[in-house]
Amino acid sequence: MFRLMFLAVALTMAWPAAAQDLPVRGVSPLSIEVDGRALPQLDADVVALPVFGDEDPLATALKGAGPELTAAVNAVRTQRALTGDLAITSIFGPRGLATPRLLLVQAGSEQGVSADRLRRLAGAVVRAVRGQQVRSVALFVRGPITGGDAARVIAEGAVLGLFDPGLHKSGSRAPALATLRVAGVGASSAALTAAVERGRINADAQNFARSITQEPSNQMTPEHMAQHARRIAKESNLEVETFDERQIASMGMGGIIAVGQGAAAAPRFIVLRYRAPQPSATTLALAGKGVTFDSGGITLKPGANMYQMKGDMAGGAAVLAAMQIIGRTRPAVNVIGLVPAVMNLPSGTAQRPGDVWTGLSGKTVEVMSTDAEGRMILSDALTYALRQNATHLVDVATLTGAIVTALGDVHTGAFASDDALFDSLTASARRTGESFWRMPIDEEYARGIRGSLVADLNETGGQAGASVGAKFLQQFTDGRPWIHLDIAGTSWPANAGPHMAGGPTGVTSRTLAELAHTLGSESLRLKPAATGNN
Ligand code: BES
Ligand code: ZN
Ligand code: MN
Repeated sequence: MFRLMFLAVALTMAWPAAAQDLPVRGVSPLSIEVDGRALPQLDADVVALPVFGDEDPLATALKGAGPELTAAVNAVRTQRALTGDLAITSIFGPRGLATPRLLLVQAGSEQGVSADRLRRLAGAVVRAVRGQQVRSVALFVRGPITGGDAARVIAEGAVLGLFDPGLHKSGSRAPALATLRVAGVGASSAALTAAVERGRINADAQNFARSITQEPSNQMTPEHMAQHARRIAKESNLEVETFDERQIASMGMGGIIAVGQGAAAAPRFIVLRYRAPQPSATTLALAGKGVTFDSGGITLKPGANMYQMKGDMAGGAAVLAAMQIIGRTRPAVNVIGLVPAVMNLPSGTAQRPGDVWTGLSGKTVEVMSTDAEGRMILSDALTYALRQNATHLVDVATLTGAIVTALGDVHTGAFASDDALFDSLTASARRTGESFWRMPIDEEYARGIRGSLVADLNETGGQAGASVGAKFLQQFTDGRPWIHLDIAGTSWPANAGPHMAGGPTGVTSRTLAELAHTLGSESLRLKPAATGNN
């Protein structure tokens, strides 16, 4: 009788009656169109024009505009009003142009205009007019990046630029920019529209990751993350399973249970599955650390900046976002997205230093610091990925303070067991503009974690904290191609720059999805028969 009652209660808690979908805050709708008209005819409220170095834009881009603009443009040049990266200045009422406002943007040297620079330029432009009485902006593309590549990155940069991290500010919002026109890329075509759409899918997903990372931990618990996963599955055509604490325990995921046992909000284990349209021999597993708050546990962190540990689920957010892109853009390989979601809090039921736990792999681990919780939950996720026959493993985590010391907010640390997979990551990152720096994982770095007197492994040990964390995770990869991405520095940069608001970045969301596409085209290239074209 009691048992039955307990079961009924457990069931209700595990599957809250209609898990209502949570809002994704901070995003504003933007219509993006391709505009094939020449620069003088563009009649948007603002027309933005990249200027290269100290070129005279009248001699080049504005040639057709007529001589009346000369004085204004000369003033910009003599006053050096366009000095500095992405510096912006406006000329109101430019004679000879249809627009009431010409916005000049410093784009640096013409050859230096990479896709990522164009992406950031688009972000800087929309942020410069955000909150003003500006409904439409046309960005006239110039430089080496053209056509669909330009259209895609401009859509990405603009949508990312409009994200507002003031999720819970009350009061009236500034009037929003409604329309962006991409000009200078040719007449509107199916290919250009598709490129814009791809950019929007990418940036929407990254903004979603930023939004849930920015959400405070009282509004982004493990169950909230699971709700988002279920919503994403429904909207983006993925399969989803979310396991509650009881199910996590009965599967044997002792690492997740140990980390979560101190908190009232119980853990969840989230699985999103994408199946390639054609059978594929490749299954990419993406595992993201989903610590919705990391107090350090009994090994309590210092109070200063502890609030930023609401962002310790940035890896999990990136995996959910990547799966959203993957569901919508359908690469040629199978992908499983895994998020162990858990809160790390001290209490009478919390794990203690010296405790020994057994994870899904069967290995026993002695806890040195309850603040090394990320590797505990990810070890179970990686083991789960192996059991799902994943052929390639990537985990992404705000894992160590040591990576922030080494690389700051400039590069994500990448620890790869396999050169080919790292090359695929690098190729993917070239398209997304994100930066990865390869870090060492020599066996020497595993010396410390092998030193436990009582268990198979210690979870910490040794001086090179970021590499030691990676070596711990590698113990759960069965020698399969694997990359660990430490985003502790890049997920929440100290300085944001003019192209994006401060706060969490959603870093790796786009690159992880791009990696699935890269692996997909590589596997098709290796097996031409599988394409069905011959
Ligand atoms: N979430 C932290 C790492 C972190 C630090 C993320 C700074 C973002 C900014 C992680 O769980 C942690 O506490 N790591 C410890 C590991 C140590 C106990 C071996 C660290 O880096 O100090
Ligand atoms: Zn952590
Ligand atoms: Mn920690």
